[in-house]
Amino acid sequence: MSSESVKSINVGICGLGTVGNGTLSIIQNNADEIARRLGAELRVIRVATRSLNRDEVPGVANLGNDPFAVVNDPAVDIVVETIGGFEPAFEVVKQALGNGKHVVTANKALIAERGNELFAVAEENAVCLAYESSVAGGIPIIKVLREGLAANKIKWLAGIINGTGNFILTEMAAKQRQFEDVLQQAQELGYAEADPSFDVEGIDAAHKLTIMASIAFGIPLQFAKTYTEGISHITPEDISYAKELGYCIKHLGIARLSERGVEMRVHPTLISSKQLLANVDGVANAILVNGDAVGSTMYYGPGAGAEATGSAVVADIIDIARYLLADAKTPVVPALGYRSMHQDLEVLSIDEIESEFYLRITAMDKIGVMARISGILQEFDISIEAVIQKESISEYVPIIILTHRVVEKQLNQAIESIEAMADVSESITRIRVEPFHGEQG
Ligand code: HSE
Repeated sequence: MSSESVKSINVGICGLGTVGNGTLSIIQNNADEIARRLGAELRVIRVATRSLNRDEVPGVANLGNDPFAVVNDPAVDIVVETIGGFEPAFEVVKQALGNGKHVVTANKALIAERGNELFAVAEENAVCLAYESSVAGGIPIIKVLREGLAANKIKWLAGIINGTGNFILTEMAAKQRQFEDVLQQAQELGYAEADPSFDVEGIDAAHKLTIMASIAFGIPLQFAKTYTEGISHITPEDISYAKELGYCIKHLGIARLSERGVEMRVHPTLISSKQLLANVDGVANAILVNGDAVGSTMYYGPGAGAEATGSAVVADIIDIARYLLADAKTPVVPALGYRSMHQDLEVLSIDEIESEFYLRITAMDKIGVMARISGILQEFDISIEAVIQKESISEYVPIIILTHRVVEKQLNQAIESIEAMADVSESITRIRVEPFHGEQG
């Protein structure tokens, strides 16, 4: 896109800790892709941070340590609040909204405890206060509850919404480790909040649960009424006894609507080991949402981390930017999400795709057959990861081979040669293997 003809949306960031940095680097690294979606450039024009080392903040013209300079800058369209805590974050957000600026915050404590006041200020000034990143990091659960499931009366939701707590319980269960020991490791790994009691006493999860319950049931934010119990009293013995009974212990946030009212509670909970939530391990987050029309749905992903949380902050910025850029002739969100599509990205044929393969070959149980099959695979540069040869039930024997990655066209040629062998019967069964490259799928 030529920069002269392209409009721009100007962003100011207050606070360059983990999430602020993640946000800045996504906006900078994915600038072209974001510009294609928006039909405009997203530019970070001003940053306020405690550390004024310019080398640590490349590509930003105005760097200072006063967040109020960001919210009072007339050139800033959208303010990002990633300072955390209540002060000065509350005043910064309030002033930005009062100045008619849209605000994106990752601050769950601020939204859960003072969101009612701030949303009123946003409404008075006809601006948005967006907070997707405040709950479950990179999982777009606010959008799910507020938009995706808008047709439903939400009956209940239950989630693992504190990664540190889940990491601790997972480690205690897997290795019979004591609580304090695993907490120390979580702190060393950087998972825990600055004050780890927020994680282990359930306050962090209660902030997130309060926010989700408000959106799910259409009630004001009421953090003080959320029952909050932590995990520090759970022992490896409790986990073992629960396991014997077919359960595992997870620290859950649960919100439920009944004829008697709304439940909002955070506490350790026994859930059947067969439940999907029981298999969410480590620092991952997952939320089950039950709506009267849709039934149960589940959302899983990283609940913390610079870029995962930054991903949700930037999504909020893009939502607001789309709204700022909309006019009577164009829809706020383009039908396929992009104003400028990638016309030059070709869709690959299946022949061109690389994959690992499971092969089942039915061959004569004879000396040399296996060697010949290996020889053909070697000829086509296909490396073998594992082989199983089952007991023969007739003169034929099933040979199971797992290959390393290979382009499908090459594998087809090898299969054709193996199928042409006199000692191989029937056609070869091939199933593609998808390892997701070590990422949890
Ligand atoms: N300390 C939080 C957690 C980080 O462990 O989930 C994100 O809120």
